[in-house]
Amino acid sequence: MKREKIIEVLKSNETGKTVLVKGWVRTKRGSKNINFIALNDGSTIHNLQIVVEVENFNDKLLRNITTGAALSVSGELTQSQGSGQNVELRAQEIELLGGADPDKYPIQPKRHTLEFLRENAHLRFRTNTFGAVFRIRHAMAFAIHKYFNEKGFYYMHTPIITASDAEGAGQMFRVSTLDPVNPPTTEEGEIDYTRDFFGKPANLTVSGQLEGELGAMALGEIYTFGPTFRAENSNTTRHLAEFWMIEPEMAFYDLTDNMDLAEDFLKSLIRYALDNCMDDLQFLANRLREEEKNKPQDQRSMELIEKLESVAGSDFVRCTYTEAIEILKRSKPYKKKKFQFPVDWGVDLQSEHERFLVEKHFKRPVILINYPKEIKAFYMKQNDDNKTVGAMDVLFPQIGEIIGGSQREEDYNKLVTRMKEMDIPVEEMWWYLDTRRFGSAPHSGFGLGFERFILFVTGMGNIRDVIPFPRTPKNAEF
Ligand code: 4AD
Ligand code: MG
Repeated sequence: MKREKIIEVLKSNETGKTVLVKGWVRTKRGSKNINFIALNDGSTIHNLQIVVEVENFNDKLLRNITTGAALSVSGELTQSQGSGQNVELRAQEIELLGGADPDKYPIQPKRHTLEFLRENAHLRFRTNTFGAVFRIRHAMAFAIHKYFNEKGFYYMHTPIITASDAEGAGQMFRVSTLDPVNPPTTEEGEIDYTRDFFGKPANLTVSGQLEGELGAMALGEIYTFGPTFRAENSNTTRHLAEFWMIEPEMAFYDLTDNMDLAEDFLKSLIRYALDNCMDDLQFLANRLREEEKNKPQDQRSMELIEKLESVAGSDFVRCTYTEAIEILKRSKPYKKKKFQFPVDWGVDLQSEHERFLVEKHFKRPVILINYPKEIKAFYMKQNDDNKTVGAMDVLFPQIGEIIGGSQREEDYNKLVTRMKEMDIPVEEMWWYLDTRRFGSAPHSGFGLGFERFILFVTGMGNIRDVIPFPRTPKNAEF
């Protein structure tokens, strides 16, 4: 008999039919004569109820059916007597594929803290919460490829190992095969990277953008979707050392085209989640509602599904950095000295400022543009005021910055001048500069932090809970 997925079995109304399912026990309860097993196989958040007539099965087998055990069950699909499900499975044959010693199995049918589950990240997929999060994560990855494919963008695989620092921020992980204890040295006593694997210093990439630009200048519209790495020592609920980024790059787009794409992209993805992930979203919404009950009224956030509907249906605010600074300076928290970080033209906005703009002031997602050139990367298009660049950050409720992007400087001389000012090694970047020498054209792009986006969609509070195995400072378990 062919195994069926529980999601299909639950949808089917073919009572009387014999089916075979395989999955893991979530709970077992019952009496002397009859047992009820909730079986889950990951295909849906819903469990299939297995009805077991005790007298038909071996005692030892039934004793070993405990939470976490893997089972293969065949039987007859019947109309369910109990509430909560349409159909249930009357077990005819049960095979225990793998037991889970109840004294040792950490995931018991009770509420575990997220911290505990992070320490047991290898098993946390087996909880409703993480099942929902990772099914949604999958759906969003799929929706991203679907979105770009339908728009004629090409998926481009940019390298993970690179010798250039795309963001010029120097927060990179070194990739080397040199002996760390006794590295070869030059006559001057410095490490001799010519003898390293790549013949020069190499790192894990912080962004696929620079290579993405090369593709866009021929293929027209490309996107990358891959892992990126940042060795910034930020222990926050919004930062990972290894995260996934989606970076579209488009020839002939100016900053407005770039904003239009970013806004449409985000709304389409949220719409996809609402249309395709409702069971999981509903579960997460209920979970959040329970959590919010313990918070004071004024700190409660919007209901999850309502929040997603609202963002999917709203026009994002577009506002310059300069206007944002003025708004912040006129704000109550500023006047009452409630902001931890300074607000002044020229400083980078912190997430407390971003969240004030989005959650308190505009009450909608905000796209901030034209940032001071000093706080942005070398490749951004220089505005005529000589002070700002054509940058755009998309700010979301509860998250702050979710997208960072810009129009790119396409003028060779302006770009080289800026690179020199910012100590970017011009000679090593000859290949990047070549796009500005041969057929240069206006172009733009942005980067969406995938985990930040998943945080938003799932309503989870910590970025460590939306990637299977988080990498953060002092933490690379699993
Ligand atoms: O703003 P960032 O640094 O932009 C770039 O890397 C550009 N090269 C993108 C482009 O124009 N193609 O990063 C983009 C996004 C941020 O807005 C944020 O969502 C996410 O990546 N991000 C992180 N997510 C998790 N952990 C970190 N440490 C992150 N750093 C950035
Ligand atoms: Mg940024």
